[in-house]
Amino acid sequence: MKEKLRIQGCARLEGEVAVSGGKNAAVAIIPAALLADSPCTIENVPDINDVHVLIEMLQWLGAKVEFKDNVMWIDPRTVDKYNPPYELAGKMRASYYLAPVLLGLFHRAEVPLPGGCDIGARPIDQTVKGMENLGVKVETLGGVLVAVADRLLGNDIFLDMPSVGATVNSMLTAVSVPGMTCIHNAAKEPHIVDLANFLSSMGAYVKGAGTDVIRIRGGRQLHGANYTIVPDQIETGTLMIAAAASGGDVTITGAIPAHMESLSAKLLEMGVHVSSEDDWIRVRSNRVFRSVNVKTQGYPGFPTDLQQPLSALLTVANGTSLVTETIFESRFRFLDELRKMGANVRVIESSLAMITGVDRLVGTRVNATDLRAGAAMIVAGLMAEGVTEIGGVGYILRGYERIDEKLARIGAHIERIQVEDAF
Ligand code: EPU
Repeated sequence: MKEKLRIQGCARLEGEVAVSGGKNAAVAIIPAALLADSPCTIENVPDINDVHVLIEMLQWLGAKVEFKDNVMWIDPRTVDKYNPPYELAGKMRASYYLAPVLLGLFHRAEVPLPGGCDIGARPIDQTVKGMENLGVKVETLGGVLVAVADRLLGNDIFLDMPSVGATVNSMLTAVSVPGMTCIHNAAKEPHIVDLANFLSSMGAYVKGAGTDVIRIRGGRQLHGANYTIVPDQIETGTLMIAAAASGGDVTITGAIPAHMESLSAKLLEMGVHVSSEDDWIRVRSNRVFRSVNVKTQGYPGFPTDLQQPLSALLTVANGTSLVTETIFESRFRFLDELRKMGANVRVIESSLAMITGVDRLVGTRVNATDLRAGAAMIVAGLMAEGVTEIGGVGYILRGYERIDEKLARIGAHIERIQVEDAF
């Protein structure tokens, strides 16, 4: 038996829905907690599969972890291993964030290379370069990243592109390395700032997160902290797009409107009403959308993780939209699934898709080919006539906390079903 999401389309979403804590912040902050000399309590941790995999990994390494009602308590004092097994580490991208942390603790780390969503080549050369610049010997042996402390000293790191993963790994390495490290061309995403704030609350010297240059004076012993994770930017955006797709009137609470400006601007361009204050965003639409062109970029540009759900919305916009994906090469595979529902989409070149709006989508069986493709299928299913059945639910649950329940509470006809033949 496998699980699917079943959506009866065309229901209007209405009411309030609360956003969960950020996945990409949580998967960086939880490993960072191992660097403390006393327990950490982390609040607003999303209850998603990626977090459960991390808990298993931390426990395997020897940490004590409790997780209940989105609060995680981590006691790292009993960690006594530096080599998480492939069966766990291979399940998620962010497991390689353990490498710099275990290196800080044991001067050696052996971490299987990243798994996660298959959205194209995901090299780690920038992570390797960052660690090497700080005096770490790095080798990849048989699919395992082996990092050994050599002559550790703070240094400049110039990233070739503002990679989220390389920025996180450079930060997590630098906090344990004596001297000043400057990470140039750093990623500026909200989860980078959140990790910096968490490290600061543990006693680290971290300045400049959210700008192009992050400065870290490393080598201090870090202590336990109480911390609350930032709201999930991508879940917020997914809910905004879902609200617009349904022609609804939805207020997303517990959000940070400033993180959503690139999406809000696009939705306004499309004719959707977006208003916000303090910690909520209200989205209203009449299901009539103008086409727009979108190009993905690092923060504060339009996030690649919202490209797929927004593309789903564009399938019913009036006119033709051009979508340029500059971050991941294989993030258009999901368009084949949208085509099954009647969308008029064409990949012109590997990074450019043309979407011409159609009058209606029709529900059918589709597959979530990765996490955000799953979000796109949900958006399409909400708009489609008839029933949409989405396979690959595991991908969706990796990153969205109880998304089916959240949408059902604001009026979606969505349920998780068990089927024999899930593909
Ligand atoms: N890149 C390199 N070399 C490197 C690192 C990155 O060439 O050493 C390239 C990548 O191939 C890609 C670009 O740089 O073209 C950006 O990759 P980045 O390192 O920023 O991505 P990531 O760290 O692998 C994180 C998120 C992704 C999100 C991207 C972009 C986590 C755990 N994952 O991935 O989230 O799409 O940043 O914002 O933080 C998702 O949540 O669905 C997801 C895939």
